[in-house]
Amino acid sequence: MSPKTKSAYTVPKLKDFSTNALHKALIEAKLAFSEELLNANSDAAWKVFRDRWMARKNGVLTQINDLWLKTAPKENKREAGQLVNELKQFVEQEISRARGFVDGGAAELAVGLERLDITLPGDRRALGAEHPVIKTMNEIVGVFRNLGYSVEEGPEIETDYYNFEALNFPPNHPARDTQDTLFIANQEAKPLRERLLLRTHTSPVQIRSMEKMKPPVRVVCPGKVHRNDAPDATHSPIFHQVEGLAVDTNITFCDLKGTLDHAMKALFGSSVKTRFYPSFFPFTEPSADVQISCIFCGGKGYRDGGPCRNCKASGWIELLGCGMVDPNVYGFVDYDAKRVSGFAFGMGVERIAILKYGVDDIQLFFNGDVRFLEQFG
Ligand code: DAH
Repeated sequence: MSPKTKSAYTVPKLKDFSTNALHKALIEAKLAFSEELLNANSDAAWKVFRDRWMARKNGVLTQINDLWLKTAPKENKREAGQLVNELKQFVEQEISRARGFVDGGAAELAVGLERLDITLPGDRRALGAEHPVIKTMNEIVGVFRNLGYSVEEGPEIETDYYNFEALNFPPNHPARDTQDTLFIANQEAKPLRERLLLRTHTSPVQIRSMEKMKPPVRVVCPGKVHRNDAPDATHSPIFHQVEGLAVDTNITFCDLKGTLDHAMKALFGSSVKTRFYPSFFPFTEPSADVQISCIFCGGKGYRDGGPCRNCKASGWIELLGCGMVDPNVYGFVDYDAKRVSGFAFGMGVERIAILKYGVDDIQLFFNGDVRFLEQFG
């Protein structure tokens, strides 16, 4: 249908502002616009067409604004507004698209289309890459998934109970100190165990998992943790951990050693050795730090004719904490400490990523410099 056989579109006054009536009016306006756009096939016709719809003074869009939006009753204003905006966007987008063909003297759309050189290379969109920390975290989780562990998550804003008390931290443990923990303000009116803080480790998810399920439990808990540390090359107030927990009957320290030795070999290569060094955590007894043989000097302690800087010439690199779950912890989750036993471990994701990728500054993970990040694509 051409405008010759049909009179030009005039903006109707609306009496009915119901959803249906508004939509009908919108569709009619879009139809009329599209028809007129197709017929604007000379420079002169194009200018008339564009002014007819876009002119501030009395252009069709302005009329629609006046006749539909301003006169709409209060209860229909919102909907009428959305509709008028939709039409405006539609008209503006189509006009700017068509202008691409019309400007430069080529009046007709068809001519414009013929000038489109489809042999030109397209605009390449840079592909995003997985962030190295998330990539490493997924890799760690994958190793334990293959061993039959399931994945559990917990909140980053925790209570003192889950972050400390149920993990057997005594009330005056130095880790509760504001030196390390970021507390949420104005919590003093609450009892200590209900006070909120940013979790300092993923260990509270151990408690939440044991509250949720009966043994046997095998879970890994990846996530973000927070500490009141000033940022430098090896510290960041926000970092990530992967926690692990296995509870069943007859789980022994041998199971812990075998599991973590396997995990370290899966992450760093089969020639890596592990060593368990006595340590202390309130929620495990006994506790250990796991060290792996230095992946830079092959555990020799020297490299390129000098001492290895990565392991301070010791041949070992300390990587994670672990231990047998302290029976006191079972008391908090109603497990029978006489019947069950288990182990737990926790590792820092950035630390592992730093070693795997040879990164020398933890801040690089958080600065958002694409030149660094795109190397992991
Ligand atoms: N939560 C400890 C930390 O952030 C790490 C850790 C040590 C987790 C021993 C454990 C564990 O589950 O058994 O320093």
